[in-house]
Amino acid sequence: MASPLVRLLLLLLLVVAAASRGAASAAKAKAKAARVTAVIVFGDSTVDTGNNNQIGTPLRSDFPPYGRDMPGGARATGRFGNGRLAPDFMSESLGLPPLVPAYLDPAYGIADFARGVCFASAGTGLDNATAGVLSVIPLWKEVEYYREYQRRLRAHAGAAAARDVVRGALHVVSIGTNDFLENYYMLATGRFARYSVGEYEDYLVAAARAFLAAIHRLGARRVTFAGLSPMGCLPLERTAGALLGGGGGGCVEEYNRVAREYNGKVEAMVRSLRAELPRLKVAFIPVYDNMLDLITHPEKYGLENVEEGCCATGRFEMGFMCNDESPLTCDDASKYLFWDAFHPTEKVNRIMAQHTLDVCYQQGVL
Ligand SMILES: *[C@@H]1O[C@H](CO)[C@@H](O)[C@H](O)[C@H]1NC(C)=O
Repeated sequence: MASPLVRLLLLLLLVVAAASRGAASAAKAKAKAARVTAVIVFGDSTVDTGNNNQIGTPLRSDFPPYGRDMPGGARATGRFGNGRLAPDFMSESLGLPPLVPAYLDPAYGIADFARGVCFASAGTGLDNATAGVLSVIPLWKEVEYYREYQRRLRAHAGAAAARDVVRGALHVVSIGTNDFLENYYMLATGRFARYSVGEYEDYLVAAARAFLAAIHRLGARRVTFAGLSPMGCLPLERTAGALLGGGGGGCVEEYNRVAREYNGKVEAMVRSLRAELPRLKVAFIPVYDNMLDLITHPEKYGLENVEEGCCATGRFEMGFMCNDESPLTCDDASKYLFWDAFHPTEKVNRIMAQHTLDVCYQQGVL
């Protein structure tokens, strides 16, 4: 018979072993549930990691000071920002590469794309006509590229492995602002004459639904769909509002109202799609609330300027207008919400990435 002391030690060992086994299996369950094979991106400039560099559009950002805060040193990759975009941060957080490569970038191949790929194109929209305004890639073509990508992946890795990549991938979708600000309200395509804004919202929501159903048919199971930000608070819209409406550079409330109304419709559509397609785990990301918190409580995030972009005067410059000639570009972009007159800084992209992942965990997408 072992002494009481030895028995006590044995008991303690058993308790410790059981506890650590429990902890290990909980961690394993979470790792298993959350294991993401790749980050696959669709949408516009908020998530385009360089596709527009490869096509004939004036809407590009492959020159300094774009990319000046990229990890490893300044590099203008075609990302509309001073550094990385939200999908890059999401990829890194999920244990995947720190940059999601653009599908059209010849520097990358199918072995890279097997762990993450971006089909997004700055300037595009849910409405096919929006892509025509600045000759960028329409959303239906992004889906065509996704189909082509899957064929290449099967040839590269075999059918079973390719299917596992697609099923396990997190599909990140961010699109819709350009349909309103580049197309509808700019009277660029006749949509304004044809639809009331409420009807146009419905048209876009129907297009979003068709898009989500299409990628689901192609095997997508985990999807995030970002709502619109308070787009009336973009520096460019503040400036235009002040010029046209004689305001003092405040947010254009009509655009914010439309964003909220559209977001409500998209969120309802996402909910009904989830009920209809039980294998599709899709989350609506309430970007509006998150961005509004940054605008109304900048001090919480260490931001000092939430009204102007860092680049140049910050009032209207983006794309070619945001270049190295301006002496006014700020020194520390991390104090700014916006990098140029339309796009957030890397700091804000990092916050958005974390927010999106939090919603994914809450809603069982991951
Ligand atoms: C966009 O164009 C594609 C290809 O022509 C078509 O299949 C799709 O239905 C169009 N989408 C919308 C919303 O009109």
